[in-house]
Amino acid sequence: MAHQTHSDVVPGLSRARKAALTTGADFWHTVAAPEAGIASIMLTDGPHGLRKQSEGGDALGLGDSVPATCFPPAVGLGSSWNVGLIRTVGIALGTEARAQGVSVLLGPGVNIRRSPLCGRNFEYYSEDPYLAGVLGAAWVQGVQSRGVAASLKHFAANNQETDRMRIDVRVDERTLREIYLPAFERIVTTAAPWTVMCSYNRINGTYASENRWLLTEVLRDDWGFDGLVMSDWGAVNDRPRALAAGLDLTMPAAAGDERVVAAVESGELDEATLDEAVRRLLTLIDRTERTGEPPSDADADAHHDLAALAATESAVLLRNEGLLPLDVTDLDSVAVIGEFARTPRFQGSGSSQVVPTRVDSAVDALTALGGGTAWARFAPGFRFDGTADPDLVAEAVALAEKSRTVVLFLGLPTEFESEGFDRTDIDLPANQLALLEAVTAVNPRVAVVLSNGGVVALSGWQDRTQAILEGWLLGQAGGSAIVNLLFGLANPSGRLTETIPVRLSDTPSHLNFPGADGVVVYGERIHVGYRWFDTLDLPVAYPFGFGLSYTTFEYSDLVLTPTEDALEVTFTVANTGDRAGAEVPQVYVRDVESTVDRPVHELKGFAKLLLAPGESRMVTIRLDDRAFAYWSSRERRWVVEAGDFEIRVGASSRDIRLAGTFASPGDGVLPTLTGMSSLSEWFAHPIGGPLLMQALASGTDGARFDTVDPLVAKMAAGTPLTKLAAFVPGMSGDLVDELVETVRARTPRP
Ligand code: BGC
Repeated sequence: MAHQTHSDVVPGLSRARKAALTTGADFWHTVAAPEAGIASIMLTDGPHGLRKQSEGGDALGLGDSVPATCFPPAVGLGSSWNVGLIRTVGIALGTEARAQGVSVLLGPGVNIRRSPLCGRNFEYYSEDPYLAGVLGAAWVQGVQSRGVAASLKHFAANNQETDRMRIDVRVDERTLREIYLPAFERIVTTAAPWTVMCSYNRINGTYASENRWLLTEVLRDDWGFDGLVMSDWGAVNDRPRALAAGLDLTMPAAAGDERVVAAVESGELDEATLDEAVRRLLTLIDRTERTGEPPSDADADAHHDLAALAATESAVLLRNEGLLPLDVTDLDSVAVIGEFARTPRFQGSGSSQVVPTRVDSAVDALTALGGGTAWARFAPGFRFDGTADPDLVAEAVALAEKSRTVVLFLGLPTEFESEGFDRTDIDLPANQLALLEAVTAVNPRVAVVLSNGGVVALSGWQDRTQAILEGWLLGQAGGSAIVNLLFGLANPSGRLTETIPVRLSDTPSHLNFPGADGVVVYGERIHVGYRWFDTLDLPVAYPFGFGLSYTTFEYSDLVLTPTEDALEVTFTVANTGDRAGAEVPQVYVRDVESTVDRPVHELKGFAKLLLAPGESRMVTIRLDDRAFAYWSSRERRWVVEAGDFEIRVGASSRDIRLAGTFASPGDGVLPTLTGMSSLSEWFAHPIGGPLLMQALASGTDGARFDTVDPLVAKMAAGTPLTKLAAFVPGMSGDLVDELVETVRARTPRP
């Protein structure tokens, strides 16, 4: 039975019923209230495929779900930098969810990859919040267009697995606003997800699930979120407190309905808050029922093909000394070494684990490419358990010796990275590095294909290779995508969403990861990822935004056009090679002169362009005010300072091809002056400065500031006005109050 509109139903529900509706019925369903026409809906992981547990299956069992298409996890999909593709994958995911009667798909995960060690980086898009936000928004739009709710997670500052359920993240507000929140903010404001999932961790002492500032003031009041907030599974410690903070649905089924009722009865929890939580659940049910086409069967073959396309765009060609693409006519002279070619690692471990509808291995794809005869030139080379096996190495070396070219599949076996724990280093397993050494010693023509969720160090061994194709975790069709890329049937177009460091110890969070004694301090502040490496000009193995192609691109004709509400950045990209290929031009903004410490530049726009040989295309990217702003902790708002900004257009954060300067008038909002504002802040203020000057000039002789010794003036510049009142004759607390009030009255409101 369809339920009535939500506002009609809530007043008729008992307190006990309302309390019951704010937690799950079981692990994956919400509570039904048949007497009020309220149906139960199903929630399921996410994010790169459906993990719908079969009826009767155990809740946690990770291998027991209904088969579904496994698309590339975010580490791969994000590397496509292809918004349209991600939206299409979202539509396919929504279609599969709907066909299975699932109303909420638990994704996307848009936490920032703060450290390469985080075991769950494979589920997140990037070290950059703008990129994560734009890509995550496309995913949400796609899924929700099918009438399936997204659940934007894990809100917020969930950037490690170590101690994830207790860790207290100590982070300043500017860092939150500029790095850890903007992906959520962009998705909420541009794609309106119907649900958000709070994280397990604490933020500055308060659990996310009980954090009113986060769940209500920021999420709803600042960003206008109008959906339902649910908890991560088990994130709630105190249901009344969570409800009061703005958390509507505690998942999974939790005890404590009586506690909620008692809290209302004692006045500890406002009944209106409980009603609102129930209303939000009913709105969610409405939205999922009323949007999208009726459920239809998902086309497994078409979705497999889409997974292959997505995988093709996800791989990043890092190195190519002329070896790739291989020639299909030379197929018989190619050896394939490495267990990953036969047993692909195509997804990460944990709650996102999908039972795929089928899996293409590279060996299968080579068999198909070779006309169907089983691919014989394969040697596994190593064991996944990390133990050395001289026989496997000898077999691989013998095969490499008698082959013209070797494709060597290396990577991180399943046990090396997962939800639930972090890595402690970024090295490939020693048994694989030993194999690489042995194989490259007998055959110099080696292309390495990598399978890994978190980045791995390449600097110690990459010179021994002629090519490196970073294959991440590519979903169920990764094997055929890799083979198509190796043989030039497709042109690599993925770009790094995370800097690959030379050494782990170069990474910004190195001294503050994963914290100790239940506390992690985000000491590197806003300097995460390339913001750190590029600001400090540190050597990197491969920079953010980097990726090679089999063709070449040229950039030209940068034009900056200020419009009323944006800066339009226009330029042209040409494919100067002889094959079709896709380029990802990136726009970085640099604040040339700032009163606060800022990263050297930040990504604020990008495009992905597929260009035929010889084709060129003009691109326009709009930069709004936010592209120039920093978060002022003192003013508690975004501030755009007047002055020059350099607009950099490039093929990576380290490969800037075009640059131009834009003189920003600033946002025109005057800083707030108080008695504790310093003398220099007063003088710099267009209203406060002249007023203060006038007040000082009319004081007794000692107060004539313009005649003061310059050294004394410099010493006094940082002194708050109130403090100065004690030293300067003619100044007084009353005069300071009067000045503050006059400035406030004369300052136009933003
Ligand atoms: C994970 C979430 C997931 C949930 C349900 C949690 O442990 O952190 O991402 O959606 O479990 O499986």
